[in-house]
Amino acid sequence: MTTSGPVLTAPSPLHGAAGTMKALVYLGDGKKAFQDKPKPAVTAPTDAIVRIVKTTICGTDLHILKGDVPTAKPGRTLGHEGIGVVDEVGSAVTTYKKGDRVLVSCVTSCGACVYCRKLMFSHCLDGGWILGNAIDGTQADFVRIPHADTSLYPILKGEDEEPLVMFSDILPTGYECGVLNGRIAPGSTVAIVGSGPIGLAALLTAQFYSPAEIIMVDLDQKRLDIAVRFGATKAVNSTDGKAKEAILALTDNVGVDTAIEAVGIPATFELCEQIVAPGGHIANIGVHGKPVTLHLEQLWDRNIGITTRLVDTVSTPTLLKLKRAGKIFPEKLITHHFKLTDIISAYDTFANAATTGALKVILEA
Ligand SMILES: NC(=O)c1ccc[n+]([C@@H]2O[C@H](COP(=O)([O-])OP(=O)(O)OC[C@H]3O[C@@H](n4cnc5c(N)ncnc54)[C@H](O)[C@@H]3O)[C@@H](O)[C@H]2O)c1
Ligand SMILES: [Zn+2]
Ligand SMILES: [Zn+2]
Repeated sequence: MTTSGPVLTAPSPLHGAAGTMKALVYLGDGKKAFQDKPKPAVTAPTDAIVRIVKTTICGTDLHILKGDVPTAKPGRTLGHEGIGVVDEVGSAVTTYKKGDRVLVSCVTSCGACVYCRKLMFSHCLDGGWILGNAIDGTQADFVRIPHADTSLYPILKGEDEEPLVMFSDILPTGYECGVLNGRIAPGSTVAIVGSGPIGLAALLTAQFYSPAEIIMVDLDQKRLDIAVRFGATKAVNSTDGKAKEAILALTDNVGVDTAIEAVGIPATFELCEQIVAPGGHIANIGVHGKPVTLHLEQLWDRNIGITTRLVDTVSTPTLLKLKRAGKIFPEKLITHHFKLTDIISAYDTFANAATTGALKVILEA
Protein backbone atom coordinates (compact mmCIF):
# COMPACT_ATOMS: atom_id res chain seq x y z
CA MET A 1 0.00 0.00 0.00
CA THR A 2 1.26 3.48 -0.80
CA THR A 3 1.02 5.63 2.26
CA SER A 4 2.12 8.89 0.75
CA GLY A 5 0.35 11.04 -1.73
CA PRO A 6 0.73 14.65 -2.72
CA VAL A 7 0.92 16.11 0.78
CA LEU A 8 -0.40 19.64 1.05
CA THR A 9 0.75 20.80 4.45
CA ALA A 10 1.26 24.49 3.71
CA PRO A 11 -1.89 26.50 4.44
CA SER A 12 -3.62 27.55 1.28
CA PRO A 13 -4.55 31.22 0.87
CA LEU A 14 -8.11 30.19 1.76
CA HIS A 15 -7.25 28.28 4.94
CA GLY A 16 -8.82 29.89 7.96
CA ALA A 17 -11.26 31.85 5.89
CA ALA A 18 -14.93 31.26 6.64
CA GLY A 19 -16.20 28.14 4.95
CA THR A 20 -12.97 26.14 4.57
CA MET A 21 -11.28 23.48 6.69
CA LYS A 22 -8.57 20.82 6.48
CA ALA A 23 -9.40 17.17 5.78
CA LEU A 24 -7.63 13.89 4.99
CA VAL A 25 -8.89 13.07 1.51
CA TYR A 26 -8.68 9.70 -0.29
CA LEU A 27 -7.46 10.33 -3.84
CA GLY A 28 -7.70 6.76 -5.25
CA ASP A 29 -4.83 4.36 -6.10
CA GLY A 30 -3.51 4.25 -2.52
CA LYS A 31 -3.07 8.03 -2.43
CA LYS A 32 -4.28 10.52 0.12
CA ALA A 33 -3.68 14.20 0.98
CA PHE A 34 -4.35 16.52 3.89
CA GLN A 35 -5.93 19.40 2.06
CA ASP A 36 -8.46 22.22 2.09
CA LYS A 37 -12.11 21.33 1.71
CA PRO A 38 -15.32 23.31 2.12
CA LYS A 39 -16.64 23.17 5.68
CA PRO A 40 -19.76 20.91 5.67
CA ALA A 41 -23.17 22.53 6.01
CA VAL A 42 -26.50 21.28 7.35
CA THR A 43 -28.29 19.76 4.35
CA ALA A 44 -31.20 18.01 6.12
CA PRO A 45 -33.12 19.15 9.22
CA THR A 46 -31.88 16.04 11.09
CA ASP A 47 -28.16 16.88 10.50
CA ALA A 48 -25.64 18.21 12.98
CA ILE A 49 -22.24 19.69 12.19
CA VAL A 50 -19.64 18.53 14.69
CA ARG A 51 -16.27 20.24 15.24
CA ILE A 52 -13.85 17.33 15.65
CA VAL A 53 -11.70 17.42 18.82
CA LYS A 54 -10.11 13.95 18.58
CA THR A 55 -10.22 11.28 15.93
CA THR A 56 -8.25 8.15 14.98
CA ILE A 57 -7.35 5.79 12.12
CA CYS A 58 -8.88 2.32 11.62
CA GLY A 59 -7.59 -0.78 9.81
CA THR A 60 -10.60 -0.25 7.55
CA ASP A 61 -9.18 3.14 6.39
CA LEU A 62 -6.16 1.16 5.15
CA HIS A 63 -8.55 -1.23 3.35
CA ILE A 64 -10.13 1.83 1.61
CA LEU A 65 -6.70 3.12 0.53
CA LYS A 66 -5.97 -0.35 -0.92
CA GLY A 67 -9.18 -0.10 -2.97
CA ASP A 68 -11.00 -2.86 -1.02
CA VAL A 69 -14.12 -0.73 -0.35
CA PRO A 70 -15.74 0.27 -3.68
CA THR A 71 -18.33 2.56 -2.03
CA ALA A 72 -15.50 4.87 -0.88
CA LYS A 73 -14.77 7.00 -3.95
CA PRO A 74 -11.80 9.29 -4.59
CA GLY A 75 -12.44 12.72 -3.06
CA ARG A 76 -13.88 11.24 0.13
CA THR A 77 -12.75 12.52 3.54
CA LEU A 78 -11.80 9.40 5.53
CA GLY A 79 -12.51 8.56 9.19
CA HIS A 80 -15.48 7.09 11.05
CA GLU A 81 -14.40 7.54 14.66
CA GLY A 82 -14.08 10.53 16.97
CA ILE A 83 -15.39 12.95 19.54
CA GLY A 84 -16.20 16.61 19.13
CA VAL A 85 -18.38 19.60 19.91
CA VAL A 86 -21.69 20.32 18.19
CA ASP A 87 -21.23 23.42 16.03
CA GLU A 88 -24.63 23.67 14.37
CA VAL A 89 -27.86 21.65 14.28
CA GLY A 90 -30.70 21.30 11.79
CA SER A 91 -34.21 22.37 12.79
CA ALA A 92 -35.36 18.79 13.59
CA VAL A 93 -32.49 17.90 15.96
CA THR A 94 -33.92 17.83 19.49
CA THR A 95 -31.30 16.01 21.62
CA TYR A 96 -28.26 18.18 20.89
CA LYS A 97 -27.47 21.88 20.67
CA LYS A 98 -24.44 23.99 19.77
CA GLY A 99 -21.66 23.50 22.32
CA ASP A 100 -22.61 19.94 23.41
CA ARG A 101 -19.70 17.47 23.59
CA VAL A 102 -20.49 14.29 21.67
CA LEU A 103 -19.20 10.87 20.67
CA VAL A 104 -19.63 10.08 16.96
CA SER A 105 -20.80 6.54 16.14
CA CYS A 106 -19.21 4.92 13.07
CA VAL A 107 -22.71 3.80 12.06
CA THR A 108 -25.46 6.28 11.17
CA SER A 109 -29.00 5.24 12.10
CA CYS A 110 -32.33 6.90 11.37
CA GLY A 111 -33.95 5.00 14.25
CA ALA A 112 -37.17 4.43 12.31
CA CYS A 113 -36.60 2.20 9.26
CA VAL A 114 -37.27 -1.53 9.17
CA TYR A 115 -33.62 -2.38 10.03
CA CYS A 116 -33.30 0.22 12.79
CA ARG A 117 -36.51 -1.15 14.35
CA LYS A 118 -34.74 -4.55 14.43
CA LEU A 119 -31.69 -2.85 16.05
CA MET A 120 -29.68 -3.65 12.92
CA PHE A 121 -28.37 -0.11 12.53
CA SER A 122 -25.59 -1.27 10.20
CA HIS A 123 -28.25 -1.76 7.51
CA CYS A 124 -30.24 1.44 8.17
CA LEU A 125 -31.97 2.34 4.90
CA ASP A 126 -30.80 5.96 5.27
CA GLY A 127 -27.49 5.31 7.04
CA GLY A 128 -25.43 2.29 8.09
CA TRP A 129 -21.67 2.55 7.73
CA ILE A 130 -21.57 5.62 5.47
CA LEU A 131 -19.23 7.90 7.43
CA GLY A 132 -15.79 8.14 5.80
CA ASN A 133 -17.15 5.76 3.15
CA ALA A 134 -20.18 6.97 1.18
CA ILE A 135 -20.13 10.43 2.84
CA ASP A 136 -17.28 12.57 4.20
CA GLY A 137 -15.84 11.40 7.53
CA THR A 138 -14.21 12.52 10.75
CA GLN A 139 -10.53 12.99 9.83
CA ALA A 140 -11.21 16.70 9.36
CA ASP A 141 -11.89 19.88 11.33
CA PHE A 142 -15.66 19.43 10.90
CA VAL A 143 -18.01 16.59 9.94
CA ARG A 144 -21.70 16.47 8.98
CA ILE A 145 -23.57 13.82 10.97
CA PRO A 146 -26.92 12.78 9.44
CA HIS A 147 -29.67 11.67 11.86
CA ALA A 148 -27.75 13.33 14.67
CA ASP A 149 -30.29 12.47 17.40
CA THR A 150 -29.74 8.72 16.86
CA SER A 151 -26.12 8.70 15.61
CA LEU A 152 -24.34 10.68 18.37
CA TYR A 153 -23.90 9.97 22.10
CA PRO A 154 -23.54 12.62 24.81
CA ILE A 155 -20.25 12.97 26.69
CA LEU A 156 -20.82 13.56 30.40
CA LYS A 157 -19.76 16.79 32.10
CA GLY A 158 -16.13 16.53 33.24
CA GLU A 159 -15.65 13.09 31.64
CA ASP A 160 -12.21 12.24 30.22
CA GLU A 161 -13.14 12.23 26.56
CA GLU A 162 -10.08 10.67 24.90
CA PRO A 163 -10.86 7.01 25.80
CA LEU A 164 -14.33 7.50 24.30
CA VAL A 165 -12.79 7.53 20.81
CA MET A 166 -12.49 3.72 21.25
CA PHE A 167 -16.32 3.52 21.43
CA SER A 168 -17.00 4.89 17.93
CA ASP A 169 -16.07 1.57 16.31
CA ILE A 170 -13.55 -0.86 17.79
CA LEU A 171 -15.17 -1.74 21.13
CA PRO A 172 -18.69 -2.30 19.75
CA THR A 173 -17.14 -4.20 16.81
CA GLY A 174 -15.08 -6.58 18.97
CA TYR A 175 -18.00 -7.04 21.36
CA GLU A 176 -20.90 -7.43 18.90
CA CYS A 177 -19.27 -9.26 15.97
CA GLY A 178 -16.84 -11.32 18.13
CA VAL A 179 -18.03 -11.80 21.71
CA LEU A 180 -21.84 -11.70 21.35
CA ASN A 181 -22.01 -13.49 18.00
CA GLY A 182 -19.41 -16.01 19.25
CA ARG A 183 -21.64 -16.75 22.30
CA ILE A 184 -18.77 -16.65 24.75
CA ALA A 185 -19.90 -18.18 28.03
CA PRO A 186 -18.47 -18.64 31.54
CA GLY A 187 -15.83 -21.39 31.50
CA SER A 188 -15.71 -21.63 27.70
CA THR A 189 -12.59 -21.66 25.54
CA VAL A 190 -11.92 -18.89 23.04
CA ALA A 191 -9.33 -18.26 20.33
CA ILE A 192 -9.05 -14.79 18.78
CA VAL A 193 -7.14 -14.85 15.51
CA GLY A 194 -5.68 -11.38 14.97
CA SER A 195 -4.35 -9.27 17.82
CA GLY A 196 -4.82 -5.83 16.26
CA PRO A 197 -7.05 -3.17 17.85
CA ILE A 198 -10.19 -5.12 16.90
CA GLY A 199 -8.91 -8.48 18.20
CA LEU A 200 -7.77 -6.74 21.40
CA ALA A 201 -11.18 -5.04 21.77
CA ALA A 202 -12.74 -8.53 21.52
CA LEU A 203 -10.24 -9.74 24.15
CA LEU A 204 -11.15 -6.91 26.57
CA THR A 205 -14.91 -7.41 26.18
CA ALA A 206 -14.74 -11.25 26.14
CA GLN A 207 -13.63 -11.05 29.77
CA PHE A 208 -17.11 -9.79 30.82
CA TYR A 209 -18.18 -13.44 30.38
CA SER A 210 -15.30 -15.14 32.27
CA PRO A 211 -14.20 -17.68 29.66
CA ALA A 212 -11.71 -20.21 31.04
CA GLU A 213 -9.18 -19.70 28.23
CA ILE A 214 -8.57 -16.90 25.74
CA ILE A 215 -5.88 -17.86 23.23
CA MET A 216 -4.63 -14.96 21.07
CA VAL A 217 -3.05 -15.65 17.67
CA ASP A 218 -0.92 -13.23 15.61
CA LEU A 219 2.30 -13.02 13.63
CA ASP A 220 3.42 -9.96 15.61
CA GLN A 221 5.03 -10.87 18.94
CA LYS A 222 4.71 -7.29 20.24
CA ARG A 223 0.93 -7.44 19.86
CA LEU A 224 0.82 -10.89 21.48
CA ASP A 225 2.79 -9.58 24.48
CA ILE A 226 0.24 -6.77 24.82
CA ALA A 227 -2.59 -9.32 24.58
CA VAL A 228 -1.16 -11.29 27.50
CA ARG A 229 -0.97 -8.06 29.53
CA PHE A 230 -4.63 -7.43 28.62
CA GLY A 231 -5.77 -10.81 29.97
CA ALA A 232 -5.11 -13.47 27.30
CA THR A 233 -4.35 -16.80 28.99
CA LYS A 234 -2.20 -18.05 26.07
CA ALA A 235 -0.52 -16.50 23.02
CA VAL A 236 0.27 -18.37 19.82
CA ASN A 237 2.72 -16.84 17.36
CA SER A 238 1.61 -18.30 14.02
CA THR A 239 4.71 -17.28 12.04
CA ASP A 240 5.72 -20.97 11.80
CA GLY A 241 2.39 -21.93 10.15
CA LYS A 242 1.57 -24.31 13.02
CA ALA A 243 -1.16 -22.40 14.86
CA LYS A 244 -3.69 -25.20 14.38
CA GLU A 245 -1.41 -27.76 16.04
CA ALA A 246 -0.54 -25.35 18.86
CA ILE A 247 -4.21 -24.56 19.62
CA LEU A 248 -5.26 -28.21 19.52
CA ALA A 249 -2.39 -29.05 21.88
CA LEU A 250 -3.60 -26.32 24.27
CA THR A 251 -7.18 -27.66 24.25
CA ASP A 252 -6.68 -31.45 24.75
CA ASN A 253 -7.12 -31.89 20.99
CA VAL A 254 -10.73 -30.65 21.20
CA GLY A 255 -10.47 -27.14 19.78
CA VAL A 256 -12.18 -23.99 21.07
CA ASP A 257 -15.83 -23.22 21.77
CA THR A 258 -15.48 -19.83 20.07
CA ALA A 259 -13.07 -18.97 17.24
CA ILE A 260 -13.06 -15.26 16.40
CA GLU A 261 -11.58 -14.15 13.06
CA ALA A 262 -10.18 -10.60 13.41
CA VAL A 263 -7.83 -10.28 10.43
CA GLY A 264 -9.83 -10.51 7.18
CA ILE A 265 -7.84 -12.95 5.00
CA PRO A 266 -8.66 -16.52 3.85
CA ALA A 267 -5.86 -18.17 5.89
CA THR A 268 -7.16 -16.87 9.22
CA PHE A 269 -10.79 -17.82 8.51
CA GLU A 270 -9.65 -21.30 7.49
CA LEU A 271 -7.65 -21.55 10.72
CA CYS A 272 -10.89 -20.83 12.61
CA GLU A 273 -12.55 -23.70 10.70
CA GLN A 274 -9.73 -26.02 11.83
CA ILE A 275 -9.79 -25.10 15.53
CA VAL A 276 -13.51 -24.87 16.31
CA ALA A 277 -14.74 -27.60 18.68
CA PRO A 278 -17.94 -29.58 18.06
CA GLY A 279 -20.88 -27.39 19.07
CA GLY A 280 -18.72 -24.29 18.78
CA HIS A 281 -19.02 -20.97 16.96
CA ILE A 282 -16.93 -19.19 14.36
CA ALA A 283 -17.53 -15.44 14.63
CA ASN A 284 -16.11 -13.52 11.70
CA ILE A 285 -15.15 -9.87 12.22
CA GLY A 286 -12.60 -9.28 9.42
CA VAL A 287 -13.45 -7.36 6.25
CA HIS A 288 -12.77 -9.89 3.47
CA GLY A 289 -11.82 -8.91 -0.08
CA LYS A 290 -11.20 -12.46 -1.34
CA PRO A 291 -13.25 -15.72 -1.37
CA VAL A 292 -12.65 -18.19 1.45
CA THR A 293 -12.98 -21.98 1.24
CA LEU A 294 -15.69 -23.37 3.51
CA HIS A 295 -14.65 -26.93 4.40
CA LEU A 296 -18.13 -28.39 4.81
CA GLU A 297 -16.68 -31.86 4.19
CA GLN A 298 -15.01 -31.47 7.61
CA LEU A 299 -17.59 -29.32 9.34
CA TRP A 300 -21.03 -30.64 8.31
CA ASP A 301 -21.34 -33.00 11.30
CA ARG A 302 -19.76 -30.76 13.93
CA ASN A 303 -22.87 -28.78 15.00
CA ILE A 304 -21.13 -25.45 14.62
CA GLY A 305 -22.47 -21.97 13.96
CA ILE A 306 -20.83 -19.42 11.66
CA THR A 307 -21.72 -15.73 11.93
CA THR A 308 -20.80 -12.60 10.00
CA ARG A 309 -21.67 -9.05 11.01
CA LEU A 310 -21.11 -5.44 10.17
CA VAL A 311 -21.00 -3.68 13.54
CA ASP A 312 -24.42 -2.30 14.48
CA THR A 313 -23.13 -0.17 17.41
CA VAL A 314 -26.25 -1.27 19.23
CA SER A 315 -24.11 -2.12 22.27
CA THR A 316 -22.53 1.34 22.57
CA PRO A 317 -24.75 2.50 25.49
CA THR A 318 -23.98 -0.72 27.41
CA LEU A 319 -20.25 -0.42 26.75
CA LEU A 320 -20.27 3.25 27.83
CA LYS A 321 -22.02 2.23 31.07
CA LEU A 322 -19.36 -0.44 31.70
CA LYS A 323 -16.58 2.11 31.06
CA ARG A 324 -18.18 4.66 33.37
CA ALA A 325 -18.51 1.95 36.04
CA GLY A 326 -14.77 1.20 35.80
CA LYS A 327 -15.25 -2.27 34.29
CA ILE A 328 -13.23 -1.63 31.13
CA PHE A 329 -10.18 0.54 30.38
CA PRO A 330 -10.13 1.27 26.64
CA GLU A 331 -7.37 3.90 26.99
CA LYS A 332 -4.98 0.90 27.13
CA LEU A 333 -5.40 0.65 23.35
CA ILE A 334 -4.00 4.17 22.70
CA THR A 335 -0.28 4.09 21.86
CA HIS A 336 0.43 7.32 19.93
CA HIS A 337 -0.68 10.97 19.78
CA PHE A 338 -0.43 13.34 16.80
CA LYS A 339 -1.83 16.72 15.81
CA LEU A 340 -4.45 16.40 13.07
CA THR A 341 -2.08 18.44 10.88
CA ASP A 342 0.45 15.55 11.19
CA ILE A 343 -2.05 12.95 9.99
CA ILE A 344 0.17 11.76 7.13
CA SER A 345 2.87 10.73 9.67
CA ALA A 346 0.14 9.19 11.83
CA TYR A 347 -0.96 7.01 8.89
CA ASP A 348 2.66 5.89 8.36
CA THR A 349 2.99 5.00 12.05
CA PHE A 350 -0.34 3.12 12.07
CA ALA A 351 0.31 1.26 8.81
CA ASN A 352 3.75 0.08 10.06
CA ALA A 353 2.57 -1.31 13.38
CA ALA A 354 5.10 -4.17 13.39
CA THR A 355 7.96 -1.67 13.72
CA THR A 356 6.20 1.24 15.48
CA GLY A 357 4.16 -0.84 17.95
CA ALA A 358 1.07 1.25 17.11
CA LEU A 359 -2.40 0.18 18.16
CA LYS A 360 -4.70 3.22 18.15
CA VAL A 361 -3.30 6.66 17.33
CA ILE A 362 -5.13 9.74 18.61
CA LEU A 363 -5.26 12.77 16.30
CA GLU A 364 -5.98 16.06 18.02
CA ALA A 365 -7.62 18.77 15.94
N1 LIG B 1 -17.08 -6.33 10.81
C1 LIG B 1 -16.93 -5.05 11.10
O1 LIG B 1 -17.91 -4.31 11.31
C2 LIG B 1 -15.57 -4.45 11.22
C3 LIG B 1 -15.40 -3.19 11.83
C4 LIG B 1 -14.10 -2.67 11.95
C5 LIG B 1 -13.02 -3.39 11.47
N2 LIG B 1 -13.22 -4.59 10.85
C6 LIG B 1 -12.11 -5.41 10.31
O2 LIG B 1 -11.49 -6.13 11.37
C7 LIG B 1 -10.18 -6.54 10.96
C8 LIG B 1 -9.17 -6.21 12.05
O3 LIG B 1 -9.06 -4.81 12.22
P1 LIG B 1 -7.78 -4.15 12.95
O4 LIG B 1 -8.01 -2.66 12.94
O5 LIG B 1 -7.51 -4.84 14.23
O6 LIG B 1 -6.67 -4.51 11.84
P2 LIG B 1 -5.08 -4.68 11.95
O7 LIG B 1 -4.61 -4.78 10.55
O8 LIG B 1 -4.51 -3.62 12.84
O9 LIG B 1 -4.88 -6.08 12.72
C9 LIG B 1 -4.86 -7.31 12.09
C10 LIG B 1 -3.88 -8.21 12.84
O10 LIG B 1 -3.83 -9.47 12.16
C11 LIG B 1 -2.51 -9.95 12.18
N3 LIG B 1 -2.34 -10.92 11.09
C12 LIG B 1 -2.17 -10.68 9.76
N4 LIG B 1 -2.04 -11.84 9.09
C13 LIG B 1 -2.14 -12.83 10.01
C14 LIG B 1 -2.06 -14.25 9.93
N5 LIG B 1 -1.87 -14.89 8.78
N6 LIG B 1 -2.20 -14.96 11.10
C15 LIG B 1 -2.40 -14.32 12.27
N7 LIG B 1 -2.48 -12.98 12.39
C16 LIG B 1 -2.34 -12.25 11.28
C17 LIG B 1 -1.67 -8.69 12.01
O11 LIG B 1 -0.34 -8.89 12.48
C18 LIG B 1 -2.44 -7.68 12.87
O12 LIG B 1 -1.97 -7.64 14.20
C19 LIG B 1 -9.93 -5.81 9.63
O13 LIG B 1 -10.21 -6.69 8.56
C20 LIG B 1 -10.94 -4.67 9.69
O14 LIG B 1 -11.25 -4.16 8.41
C21 LIG B 1 -14.47 -5.13 10.73
ZN1 LIG C 1 -13.28 1.14 11.72
ZN1 LIG D 1 -32.75 3.34 9.81
